Amino acid sequence: FADGKKWKIGFSQVTTIEPWRAQFNKDIIAEAAKHPEVELIITDGEDKTEKQVADVENLIRQEVDALLVSPKESAGLTGVVQQAIDAKIPVFVLDRNVDTKDYTQFVGGDNALIGRAAGEYAVELLGGKGKAAGNVVEIWGGMGTQPAHDRHDGFHEFTDKEPGIKYLLDQQSGDWKQDQAYNIMANALKTNEKIDLVYGHNDPMAYGAYLAAKDVGREKDIKFIGIDGLPNEGVQMVNKGELTATFTYVTPGAEGLRQAIKFLNGEKVEKTITLPTERITKENAAKILKDNGL
Ligand code: FRU
Repeated sequence: FADGKKWKIGFSQVTTIEPWRAQFNKDIIAEAAKHPEVELIITDGEDKTEKQVADVENLIRQEVDALLVSPKESAGLTGVVQQAIDAKIPVFVLDRNVDTKDYTQFVGGDNALIGRAAGEYAVELLGGKGKAAGNVVEIWGGMGTQPAHDRHDGFHEFTDKEPGIKYLLDQQSGDWKQDQAYNIMANALKTNEKIDLVYGHNDPMAYGAYLAAKDVGREKDIKFIGIDGLPNEGVQMVNKGELTATFTYVTPGAEGLRQAIKFLNGEKVEKTITLPTERITKENAAKILKDNGL
């Protein structure tokens, strides 16, 4: 703007401690740096719904020109997203949705597709279509989030067709956290002599399960599948042979901000932007690390 006016864009992030969230913030900050006409305000919900709700209320009071929000969970954030919409603030929902479709745009990965890709690969690892057999531990992400449900449903579209596959846990959530997944897996290992495959809804949890297995000397008997595929996290774990596979879940940081700017500039934006995914195994991990200078 010639008069020095800036677009004030607020971004309510759920937490900053998880590696994927740290990358997400890096991506949005790097994108903002390319747009001198944008003032970006980032808040940290500290992984608590109440804190994130207060953050969004605060951003509404500051009269941001656009609101970006990546919710802790759907139900708890829906009211405040609706408040922003009612205040005529364009809202961009990133990665995890809310229980309204009234927002301007959703930007995120296709979690059902990722779940299906993981399920199809699990079947292959356990012996192939029609022959797959084994005991599977699934560690859920946050129960109140769409990604966890989609990652579960997609996976089971493939694995449920295999009568030889048995599930050892009933909806155990590690809330996306490595330490919680470690405890779930440590218990599962105590009560089950044979575990063949672990499906963690993200890489930190797949890795937590791997560490639990390693601590009792059973990690070599088990395949571990995760999701996120950050070069400095999941890809490295695959390359080291800790995880068998991961699926990239690109952060919506850069794309989300670009879309908001586009909208503020008067252009039309699509209701949903779906970010791509890729399977990472030993076959391509080293190359991806090299491409990322790691
Ligand atoms: C980070 C995270 C990622 C996961 C995403 C799902 O908070 O748990 O690991 O892919 O959120 O919403």
